[in-house]
Parts: sequence; structure tokens; C-alpha cells
Amino acid sequence: MKSFVVLLLAFMAMVSAKTVTYNLTATWVQANPDGCHERRVIGVNNVWPPPTIEVDKGDTLVVHFTNGLDDRNSTIHWHGLYQNGTADMDGPSMVSQCPVAPGASVVYNFTVNQNGTYWYHAHVPSQYPDGFRGAFIVHDKEAYFADMYDEELVLPLSEWYHDEMQVLVPKFMSLYNPSGAEPIPQNLLFNETMNSTIHVKPNTTYLIRLINIGAFVSQYFWIEDHDFQIVEVDGVYTEPSTADLIYITAAQRYSILLTTKNTTDKNYAIGTRMDDNMLDLIPEDLLLNQTNWLGYNDDKSDYHNADPSLKDLTAPFDDFYLVPHDKQGILPEPDHEIVVDVSMDNLDDGVNYAFFNNITYTRPKVPTLYTVLSAGDDATNSLVYGEFTHTVVLEHMDVIQIVVNNADTGTHPFHLHGHEFQVINRSPSYGDDDPTPYDPESSDNPPFPDIPMRRDTVYLRPSGHMVLRFRADNPGVWLFHCHIEWHLEQGLVLTFVEAPKIIQEQTNVRPDHWAACADLSVPTTGNAAANSANFLDLTGQNAQVIFLPAGFTARGIVALVFSCISAFIGMGFIAWYGASDLSNTEAKIILKNGVELNDDQELDIQDTETVNPHLAHHN
Ligand code: C2O
Repeated sequence: MKSFVVLLLAFMAMVSAKTVTYNLTATWVQANPDGCHERRVIGVNNVWPPPTIEVDKGDTLVVHFTNGLDDRNSTIHWHGLYQNGTADMDGPSMVSQCPVAPGASVVYNFTVNQNGTYWYHAHVPSQYPDGFRGAFIVHDKEAYFADMYDEELVLPLSEWYHDEMQVLVPKFMSLYNPSGAEPIPQNLLFNETMNSTIHVKPNTTYLIRLINIGAFVSQYFWIEDHDFQIVEVDGVYTEPSTADLIYITAAQRYSILLTTKNTTDKNYAIGTRMDDNMLDLIPEDLLLNQTNWLGYNDDKSDYHNADPSLKDLTAPFDDFYLVPHDKQGILPEPDHEIVVDVSMDNLDDGVNYAFFNNITYTRPKVPTLYTVLSAGDDATNSLVYGEFTHTVVLEHMDVIQIVVNNADTGTHPFHLHGHEFQVINRSPSYGDDDPTPYDPESSDNPPFPDIPMRRDTVYLRPSGHMVLRFRADNPGVWLFHCHIEWHLEQGLVLTFVEAPKIIQEQTNVRPDHWAACADLSVPTTGNAAANSANFLDLTGQNAQVIFLPAGFTARGIVALVFSCISAFIGMGFIAWYGASDLSNTEAKIILKNGVELNDDQELDIQDTETVNPHLAHHN
């Protein structure tokens, strides 16, 4: 009888599953999200912000995507959607498809078999911070909290830059920025704007889906005089956990249940604040915190600042202690362990790159998925994917353990495509000086949780470590990367090729995806060097810049820059610093890069910027 009911339910789910179709054309749009600066942004169908995609579990989503941008290629990634059986629909350019040229179109077509809060964004380098990102909601009438709320809200958070990425990236990835100081955003957006009011009714429970669709800073989030219950993170339902302050990194999602007060006497401040430890410099005019309002009534006279000094921000809710509602136990001892050290360093071109074990991701000549499909039996050999895509081949159904050691002083939100991971160990921050790798033998290690929390984006603390597990039950090519777009640009990425023989059996690339390659003359067969005669011959592969000779430091590079300064006048860097005299430029480079001076040197600078006291530079 019971199995009959189960079958009947499954049948009912099948008949109710539908196909949901969207036409999304990326287009340039003028917008002024923070009210301070109008600029060109990437919208969809001539509107910004891009629409929220909404489906029910079991639905098939068909997106007709056209790249309506006249000056660059594009793709869309569906962040957090596993693409089980449809690895060719995941979206990252040169990984699971070719970039889509201006004017060209591709179809994304996949079935959504999961629930919760996701998002979508462009997945060609440095594009989504220009605005091409939106929420992706999978509704679930059967969620355990479905009858615990009355209304639903989607609230994206992000930081915002007044300059386009095409202006910021060349300055960032430059000899003149040898410490890799990330550009400082101008503002924090809330619901894609600032100073907004979220109108609420009294005595009503809201399911609020918070999504950090930003590309850099983590944000603290709180609501004055209210606490709330966390019920979902990154698509994983959790046991309800009461919190009044959360810390949400780029790409993370939290669903919270908020019950409003019984009166409309007062309006309350919604506070968001940048994690200023992630900023190398704090310009004097940068507002670290922003206030929006939970509006119970229309009397704007009681709108007031969410003063973070009134809120203790030292101990945000630690997501490590969340318990998934399905109570899935810890995966068994790993079949395959991958240990990676995260570091930042300058290569021979003076630019600051990011590394997993001294490899900075360098894209292949053939999208990695297409190498899998064309490599035959060689697909199980990680060499065919190139030395600089940092590819690790995983066997179907193995338990994979990733140990990530942070030799850098920054916070890094790591994301894995195609999976969520169990987070079984995460160290505290070890601050600026004391990188502390994971030592499996250490008696200080807390025991692994029996029911570890899971999510698809997990932050690693400064100089700390973490241990993640997942089961390789989803054949595909999946990136593992830091979701800070600057660090992605710097190469903090590795590639998993999971169950390549099964990928070959189950993947049928659509003709329009092949056509996208032909449009741009991107080869679709062969190894990372596009060699299809001999998959083990990588001659001609894209390679990372070589390492500096031993002994070179960021400071040495700065010195080199100064000695060459006259030679470089006119090459654009003066404009960057906006400096009128060279000594001021020198001082600014030193300040921006956190270079330490000798006792006999002093900095003479008239500058409007102050240096962050807990300067988190990356060397
Ligand atoms: Cu949000 Cu590589 O993804």
C-alpha cells in the first residue's frame, strides 16, 4: 500500500511537471542602481535588473539565450543547479561550452530536480559584475516550512562599481598593482538599489530569500530588533536556526523566516555592512554600511540609520553548525583526497596571480567537456586536459575529500559546480601572519560532525583551512573556484572531470552549442592544445606566465616600476592614479600595495584615502 502511495505521488509529480520557457537576450542598458552614477550595465531584454527565473521542482527549463551585446561574448551559468545528466548545460565558457558570440544564440534546456534558492550569472571572465545576474527560485510546496510562512520575498545583495569591468580589470591585473589589491566598490546594493523600503504587514511571516549576487565582498545582514530563522542555505533545507546576524559571501544564499511585530508603531532599519577585512584600502568617502528599511507604516520620519556600532558584528551566525533537514550523515572515509594550498604571487610579468598548488588556471583551447567527448579512452587521463586547467579526474561514486589550506590572508568563498559539499572541518581565522594548514594528526582537530552542514559555496577564513566532502555521483566537468570574480580572474580555479566515460555515454551536445564554437572558430575536438591526433601531446597548450626568479618580491617590482617610470609615461597608469606628480604616484602605489618601508624612508603623500588598519594584502 505504502509503495502504491509513493508511486502515485511520483506519478502525480510527473504529470504536474511542466516546461517553463524564457527568452533572455543580454543587452546593454543605462542604469543608476545606487543613485550616484549612471552607467552602462548588462541587462536582459533591454531591462535591468535581469528577471527572476521561477520554476517548480521537476520542471524542464528552456532558455533561449541570445547574446545581444555588440562587443563581447557571453554565456549563462545556473549557479547551484546540478545539471545531473546535462553537464553540457552548465554554462562556463571554455569548460562546458564555447563562448557565445555577439548576435549568436544557444538554448539551455534542462530539468530541475532540486529545490530552493539559486541564481544565474554570466560565466565568461569578468562579466556578471557589470549587472548580468539574477535570482533563480525553485518553488516547493512540499518544503517542511511551506506552511510556516505567509509571503515570500527575494532580496539580492551585492556591491556595486561605477566603472565597467573592462576598465577595472586591466588596472587590477597589472604590473602596477603587484600585490593584487582588489578594486574598491563604491556602494552596497540591496534589492539592486539603495535606501529602499521593504513594506511589510504586521504579524505576518515572510520567507525571505537572501542572495549575494555580488562578486567580491561578503556582507553582514541584520534587521534592527528582529531575529529570524534560517531554513535553507544554497538549496539545502536546514533545521530552523535562530539568528540575528548573518555573514553572506558572494554567491551564498540564505532563506530566512521573519515574523513581523504585532504593531505598526515603528519602522526598523535593515543593516548591511561590507566585511572591511576584505578591502586593502578604505577610501574616506566609502560607506561601509548601508541602511534600508523594514516599513511597517508610511511615516518615513522614523527611518534611521542601522548604526553598526549599536550591533555587535563580531559573532555572526556560524553556518558550520547548521544541520541539514534531511539529516544526511557524514560521508565515509574518502576514496580520493585532494589537498590544495591557496596562495597569491607575482609571475614574471609582475602581475599578481592566484594559485592552487602553484597552478593558476589558464583556459584550454578546447572546452574541457568537448575534450572529454573527443578523447575516447584517453579521457580518463588528466593530462589531456592540459597542465594549466588543473584538472583532476574523479571516479564515479567515489567519496572525494578536498582539503583547502589558505596561505593567503583573504577570505575566500569556494564554490563547486555540479555539487554541494559537506563541510566537516573549518578552522578559525589565523589572521595575517600565521597560515595554518590542516593537520589530520593534530589532537586539536574537533571531531567531524555526524551530520555536517552542506552547501555549494563555503568560505575559507584568512590563513585557515577547511575540509570538504562530496560523492562523485554526478558525471560532468565541474569547476571548483573562488567566487570572488577578481580571484577567478587571477586563476583561483581547478577543474574536476567526473566520470568521463559516463559523460561520453550520456552527453549529446545540441547543434546550436556546436554552432557557437564554429562562429568563433573555437576547436571542438582534441586535448587542451586542440591536438586530436595525439591526445598526450600538449605542444601549443595555453600556459601560465613563468615564475619570477627566486628572491623577487612585490616590493622589488614596485622598485622596478619606479626605475622605469619615465619609460612608462603615457602608457595609461598615470591616468589610473589620477596623479599630477610622480612622487605622489609612487606613494600611492606603495600605499595601495601595502609595501613596507625601511625606517629611513617616509611617505609624503597628500591623499584623500586612508589605509585600512587591518590591511589584508596578498603577499
Ligand atoms: Cu556562480 Cu563558477 O559560478
